Amino acid sequence: MCGIIGYIGSKQALNILISGLSKLEYRGYDSAGIGIITNHKIKIIKNKGELTNLINKLGDQKITGNLGIGHTRWATHGAPSSLNAHPHISQNGKIAIIHNGIIENYLSLKKELESKGYKFKTETDSEVIANLLEYYQHSNFLISIQKTVKRLKGSFALGIINENYPDTLYAVRNESPLIVGTTSNEQFIASDIPAIINWTKEIYYLDNLEIAVLTKNQIKFYNIKLQEIQKYLSKITWDNEEAAKHGYKHFMIKEIFEQRKAIANTINPRIKNNMPLLDINITKQELNNVNKIYVIACGTSYYAGLNAKPLMEQLLNITTEVDLASEFRYRQPLIDNNSLVIIISQSGETADTLAALRLAKEKNAKTIAIVNVVGSTIAREADQTIYTWAGPEIAVASTKAYTTQLAIIYLLTIKLANLKGKVKKKELINLVKTLQLIPDQVNEILTQNEKIRALANEFYKEQDIYFIGRNIDYYTALEGALKLKEISYIHAEAYAAGELKHGTIALIEEGTLVVSLCTNKELYPKMINNIKEITARGAKTLVITNNKDEVGDYHIFIPPTNPYFNSILSVIPLQLFAYHMANNRNCNIDKPKNLAKSVTVE
Ligand code: M6R
Repeated sequence: MCGIIGYIGSKQALNILISGLSKLEYRGYDSAGIGIITNHKIKIIKNKGELTNLINKLGDQKITGNLGIGHTRWATHGAPSSLNAHPHISQNGKIAIIHNGIIENYLSLKKELESKGYKFKTETDSEVIANLLEYYQHSNFLISIQKTVKRLKGSFALGIINENYPDTLYAVRNESPLIVGTTSNEQFIASDIPAIINWTKEIYYLDNLEIAVLTKNQIKFYNIKLQEIQKYLSKITWDNEEAAKHGYKHFMIKEIFEQRKAIANTINPRIKNNMPLLDINITKQELNNVNKIYVIACGTSYYAGLNAKPLMEQLLNITTEVDLASEFRYRQPLIDNNSLVIIISQSGETADTLAALRLAKEKNAKTIAIVNVVGSTIAREADQTIYTWAGPEIAVASTKAYTTQLAIIYLLTIKLANLKGKVKKKELINLVKTLQLIPDQVNEILTQNEKIRALANEFYKEQDIYFIGRNIDYYTALEGALKLKEISYIHAEAYAAGELKHGTIALIEEGTLVVSLCTNKELYPKMINNIKEITARGAKTLVITNNKDEVGDYHIFIPPTNPYFNSILSVIPLQLFAYHMANNRNCNIDKPKNLAKSVTVE
């Protein structure tokens, strides 16, 4: 939530800040602002709404200066407004900050500062930071930062500029992500790589309570005791080409169509001699000691995680629980050193998922993270990390991250099953071979795009849509409903098909659309019964199936695969359906209302 960027160098900061913010809008887009030191004074311009509103407000103004900070906001404290937009400035107008995160003790800090004569202009938690920095002013500004940070409870990634130091950009973080980019004569801070990748591919990942001091030609890092520290310089291997729309109307549809390549990139290099080749260190003995597997994630990543349960329980013979991170962290789970905890996150920064990972580590569980964003906090903190090589996912609605997460779940389970030795190797090899067919099968489904668009043209005015399925199909139904509601704002719910008659069938009436997932041959007769019960009540059914028996009103056929792998195929038509429904409704597909790509607050 919220994107921050900062620049110091010899170029005009304004252009770099605006360009960087345009790459960070996925993190929040209810207001945006910039602050630049121009003629030794801080000049701030901000506006409500998307970045274009800020650009319009800037008009032809040339705010010159080589040091500046920029912010795009996802409101937590205080309404989305121009006043509450960042940067926030201290009372004397000399210090400006941008903040991503939440200051949990801001009310008590605000009261304290008010009692010392400070007046607050905004409703945000962030403004206290600017005033604390002023309150703790010291001839060494690092000491002001240190004292301020020590008072803050919560999460923060901060960019700070100070009129008294017009050649220095300061940054510090706790829990919220922050990277520092470098070249020989200009330096950057940002919430995420795409914001600065046009200028540098050399970056440092700031860790909790580390401070970066950036001048045009150098960067120094300090710990919170203000001892200078050395940090490892990482090189980024992808570029912004991969994050551009390439003629597609939205990132979401581009990312849906990238799935063949993303899945192939994720699995092909990891298969050797028909067996998964994953860089995971776990011995047979350690695996035999595992008595429970926990799979933890949020949102779409959670729905991917649900697929691990049947697969891991069958192939590993280990009880597997799949939990929402926000629930897991507060339910005192029975984890110990015989637990294996698998954490799934596209961004690697989701606050609840990160907290769940830390809880698991505290309890000495073995932790494996499945993450897309390289170098993200979860990727760095887990004992071991497997990257989904989906490439940057920009649209808020997750598509290729989900299917590549599934691909890794399949590979990981097969690898562990091979180690455990309870399933015949031949069976595992067959699974791997079936998995290798998936990228082309995904393409085959994508050729039905026009058919799915036509279905969306027919149904886009619906108010309520239900999704049903059994077992793995139920997990896909959950993901299909989430996709539809988050981008089209149509009310959508998913149910285990067998549950329908325990209440929800009361909502089915003449004309209601029910999307039915029928990909498991063994359960097909049960699903036919459910579909008949629904159609008997006048509902229309759209059936996603790999079986040619045509039951229901409308059909989308998907190729057959191993039943464990059905989700990775059957989700594709649901992604396309959600996309075309939202497009017909003229929704802001890549940036749905109230959402953000990276949920770094709980
Ligand atoms: O980055 P993560 O995978 O941890 O994010 C988890 C959820 O916030 C995310 O999947 C969310 O549900 C998406 N908007 C779904 O499309």
